Amino acid sequence: MNLLLRTLFKLAGGLSRSGEDAYREDYDLRARTYESAETRPMLKQATKEFISGLGLRPGMRCLDLGCGTGYSSLLLDQAVSPTGLVEGCDNSEAMLREAEKLRAGALSVTRFARAEMLEFLGSRPAGSADFIGSFWAAEYCPLDRLLELVCRALDTGGTAAMLINTHESLSELQRTVMPVLFRNPGYIRCFPPINFPPDMQGFRRSAEKSGLAIERLEECSLEHRFRDASSAISWMRGSGPAAGLTAALKKERLDGFFYDVKKEIESKNGFAVTFRFLKFSGRKK
Ligand SMILES: C[S@@+](CC[C@H](N)C(=O)[O-])C[C@H]1O[C@@H](n2cnc3c(N)ncnc32)[C@H](O)[C@@H]1O
Repeated sequence: MNLLLRTLFKLAGGLSRSGEDAYREDYDLRARTYESAETRPMLKQATKEFISGLGLRPGMRCLDLGCGTGYSSLLLDQAVSPTGLVEGCDNSEAMLREAEKLRAGALSVTRFARAEMLEFLGSRPAGSADFIGSFWAAEYCPLDRLLELVCRALDTGGTAAMLINTHESLSELQRTVMPVLFRNPGYIRCFPPINFPPDMQGFRRSAEKSGLAIERLEECSLEHRFRDASSAISWMRGSGPAAGLTAALKKERLDGFFYDVKKEIESKNGFAVTFRFLKFSGRKK
């Protein structure tokens, strides 16, 4: 998205109080289809590889911020069982309902709480966690505040780790949807508040300011090409990465909007999205 458009949307999101719950509402709607989204296997694989390299050990006390349907918590649970502890938080009730199904079978040291992640972190005793992770979720919060609270909740020597989208992530989605919205502003219900996630330099500054020593900070990308316009539309309507989109639109205009977007995609030569994200791990000094 270009700078002018980003600035306009940031302004609109900042002024609009009606959009505050948009992401939570959208994750509630998408919880049932979240795990079957077309991009999900690729993101799960990236999450698994990243977490397996973090040096987690049995006995560690972990927090999983924005745990969603529980996949990232499951990976932490397997690494720190049988003596550790994993506490996952998420502010979407429906996503947590899916996570609870996992807890009934596959999780041994994990519990979930319905909470906004900044409030959840703020409620933890200082120095009480050995590991705090947030996978594909930290971009929903103001980064400086989040890292400050992460650092406070970590024990000295404890690890923070994140997979976080940068502001260039899914730019193809923005480029496809924006012309439709500009032609039909009547589709818009509200402007979800946007914390445009940082680029690598911005992230580095925020992490250093918070008191975390950076151990790994890499820019990565993953591309997914949809086989046709219909599969791209299903993904936009039901996946986690496109959350916020349907909640920003008037319910009675959704079908019209997605019909127009489908036409937009069909007029192009195929449709692909690129996740651009940072892999970060750091230690509390
Ligand atoms: C893309 S999902 C990631 C879920 C999980 N970590 C994974 O790797 O599959 C993002 C999750 O963050 C949650 N979320 C977004 N903003 C949040 C906030 N401020 N506090 C708590 N959870 C939040 C959403 O409800 C959603 O379940």
